[in-house]
Parts: sequence; structure tokens; C-alpha cells
Amino acid sequence: MSSKDEADRGNGLQNTMFGQFDDQSYEQWRALIEQRTGLQLADHLRTYLQGGLNRRMKLHNIHDYEQYLEYVTNERNGIKEWSELIDTLTVQETQFFRHLDSYSFIETYLKELVDSSERTRSIEMWSVGCSSGEESYSLAMLAEKVLTESEHMASYGVIGTDISLSAISSAKLRIYKARKADWIPDHYHHCFDRLDNTIKIKQRIADRVCFARVNILDLDRVPIRDMDIIFCQNLLIYLRKWRRKEVVNRLSERLKVGGILVLGLGEVTDWSHPKLRQVDSRDVLAFERFKA
Ligand SMILES: C[S@@+](CC[C@H](N)C(=O)[O-])C[C@H]1O[C@@H](n2cnc3c(N)ncnc32)[C@H](O)[C@@H]1O
Repeated sequence: MSSKDEADRGNGLQNTMFGQFDDQSYEQWRALIEQRTGLQLADHLRTYLQGGLNRRMKLHNIHDYEQYLEYVTNERNGIKEWSELIDTLTVQETQFFRHLDSYSFIETYLKELVDSSERTRSIEMWSVGCSSGEESYSLAMLAEKVLTESEHMASYGVIGTDISLSAISSAKLRIYKARKADWIPDHYHHCFDRLDNTIKIKQRIADRVCFARVNILDLDRVPIRDMDIIFCQNLLIYLRKWRRKEVVNRLSERLKVGGILVLGLGEVTDWSHPKLRQVDSRDVLAFERFKA
């Protein structure tokens, strides 16, 4: 998010109608958000946080930050309100095929996997922090291409998960602004239909993709396992370094033997796992679960 966006989102409603967003209120809110989501709000995002709170408080005619905190944490509607608030505070920017090198790496991996597997194998992929679904559909298009070009009859499935309910709803709709297609390499253009100023992912791709709301801090309660590919990019950067390592430890446990974990470049440093080896590459950050 640019500082202009932050200012635009924050400034509109602040100061006059709400109580003071003093250091104590700020710290209380910042701590609650980090405790529940892992997201670490840097100090320069204070105005952005205030703007998000103000918009929600205005809707409920609440004029005091502490009262709103009470509402979110204690009241009967607190869980629903919390989820609305998180929608306004999370950065959901995303693109199809956002980091091309990662997708090229996965393409090679998938080809080898399909060629070395039984003919009827299903390939399972997980897009963690999938936002509005572009990443999940990119993985699906890629898998479909590899499987179509192969003589094997393998199938595939993608699950996209995110903490944001509105992001998940958009993902299920699978309709995107037409300019987003610029990010999709030409040879995948048969995977969507063009409708006026939008594109819509084809049903046959959507049939292979499902979405669910998952907070990455709650992975212990999530029954997703035995994945061939876990893809998690542009989410860990919002977490503290020690928490990133905890999350990738949890994700690693969900890999099948021989499966791969693909992260964003530089998103985890000084991390290793006894069951994983880092793929030797400067262009991707990926780890493979040992076959033995
Ligand atoms: C910047 S987007 C990245 C989207 C996509 N992975 C990409 O690289 O284009 C970050 C996503 O992480 C989600 N997110 C943030 N905190 C989360 C949490 N604690 N659990 C699950 N998802 C979270 C946000 O809602 C947002 O959709």
C-alpha cells in the first residue's frame, strides 16, 4: 500500500467525530490485531489503522476507540464485526502469475511429478493467503496445462485460503477486471471468457478450485494435509520473523513426501527444517520434503 493510499483511507473520517486515538488506544488495537492475525502494524500505518477503525465505528455510531474495542472483543456481534474490520485492514493486492519464476519452477516440478507418478494420481495444491483467488486460479491453469500436455491421466485440485471473507467471496465469483488479464501469459487465455470490461475464469478450471476461510495462526485446527505444493507468497512479510518461522514449520508438516513449499523471495531467512531441503536457486525460494 502506498503512503498516498494510506493517507486517503485514513484521513477522510478522522479527528472530528471520534475520541482521541492516543498512544494507549493505538497500542491496544495494534496488540489485538497482532495477537489474532499475526499482522504486525508498522508505526507509519497508524493513520491507516485509525481510518479503518473510524469507518467501522461510524457504521455502528460508536465514537470511542475503547468502546469499539469492547464491542469487537465482547459483544455478541463481535466475531462478525471483527471479520469486517480485518477485511478493511488487510492488504489484498494480488495478480495472476505474480512471480513468474515461481510458476516456471512449479511447471518443471509438476512435469517431473506427473511423469514419475501412477497414471491416475491427483495433484494437490494449496494457495495460502490467496486473496481474491488470482493465485489459486494461476496454479490451476498451470496444472491443467501440464496435465493436458502429459500422457498421464492425473487430475489436480487447488484449495485457496485466506483470513478475509470478502476476499474469499470475490475468489468464488472468479470475475476480474479485464486489465488483470495482462498478467496472464497468452497461452492461458483460453482459460477465461471476456465479458465487457471483465474476464471470468472458465467453469472447468473453477471446478478444480475451492476456497475456505483460514487464519494462518490457526493452522493446527485446519484439516488440510498431504499437499504436493504449498504456495505462500506476500503474506509472511507482514509477520514478525519468529512468527514466519512458526508458520512455515506448520505448513511444512502439511507437505506430502516429495512435496514442495514455495515462498516469496526473501520472506524467510535463516530457517531450516529437518524434513526439508532448500531448492538451489537464486530466482525462487522453495523447499522440498525429502523423499526418504
Ligand atoms: C498481499 S495479499 C497476497 C495475495 C497473494 N498470495 C499474492 O501473492 O498475490 C496477502 C493476503 O494475506 C491475507 N492474510 C493476512 N493475514 C492473514 C492471516 N492471519 N491468515 C490468513 N490470511 C491472511 C490477506 O487477507 C491478503 O489477502
